[in-house]
Amino acid sequence: MKKQIYTIAENRLIAADTYKLVLAGEGQVDGEFVHIDIPGYYLRRPFSVCDTDANGLTLLYKTVGEGTRKLAALPEGTELSVLTGLGRGFDEHACRKKALLVGGGLGAAPLYPLAKRLKAQGKDVTVVLGFNREEEIVLEREFKALCNTVSLSTLDGSAGIKGFVTDAIKALQPEYDCFYTCGPMVMMKAVCQLLKGPGEASLEERMGCGAGFCYGCSIRTAGGPRRVCKDGPVFKKEDILW
Ligand SMILES: Cc1cc2nc3c(=O)[nH]c(=O)nc-3n(C[C@H](O)[C@H](O)[C@H](O)COP(=O)(O)OP(=O)(O)OC[C@H]3O[C@@H](n4cnc5c(N)ncnc54)[C@H](O)[C@@H]3O)c2cc1C
Ligand code: FES
Repeated sequence: MKKQIYTIAENRLIAADTYKLVLAGEGQVDGEFVHIDIPGYYLRRPFSVCDTDANGLTLLYKTVGEGTRKLAALPEGTELSVLTGLGRGFDEHACRKKALLVGGGLGAAPLYPLAKRLKAQGKDVTVVLGFNREEEIVLEREFKALCNTVSLSTLDGSAGIKGFVTDAIKALQPEYDCFYTCGPMVMMKAVCQLLKGPGEASLEERMGCGAGFCYGCSIRTAGGPRRVCKDGPVFKKEDILW
């Protein structure tokens, strides 16, 4: 874990209630998520790393409460204290040749760097993304530029297949030897029940320290209690007690 100061290079509305935050700082970051100190709040807020390079990192976030609304109001040039190198992420080596990535809403964000790693290893990547409505769609262009197949579903039918990601998966009948999912719990449960074979899901919990010390994010798993921030957020599907 590293604590670093990053400068907001971009903080822009890109979809309904959804912002792209580009943080400039030194070096590519490790880890699945970062923990950001939003001025005025005691607890940091966790966000998945959506992209990273030598100049810093990109996050996507939704304004759901006070902290994220405050973050959305911060102008370019604001300095933020960020903990990096957090979390155990998706294991791209669990996939032999063909991966299926299933994202719901901003659950698409941590699947994007995974898709990049899988493609760099020469693997086939099929992506299924689900949103409530067209105005909420993010990363469609980015995934299309990178992956073999991208299928989209919206609950109201305003884009792609009308329905849930599970409807889009049934329509697509994708070939895969490992699947990866991130999104609302109810969606991931349905995906894990539908899909056969090995799979991993990224869980969310309210967090205190974000680094394994406070046990505030503990959950029960098939292997006993685990901390989402340190032992996860990604868990194998058979370990998750829905
Ligand atoms: C590992 C991890 C990765 C995440 N990645 C992203 C991301 O890439 N983009 C994004 O927009 N959000 C992400 N989240 C959720 C994000 O941390 C919360 O939305 C944020 O902390 C809310 O802060 P707030 O002060 O605006 O909301 P609050 O005022 O604290 O809460 C508002 C609402 O959001 C819910 N909420 C708050 N924190 C969480 C949480 N950690 N998990 C689930 N629900 C929560 C509350 O129950 C409440 O309903 C992630 C969470 C985790 C644990
Ligand atoms: S948030 Fe403190 S142990 Fe996970």
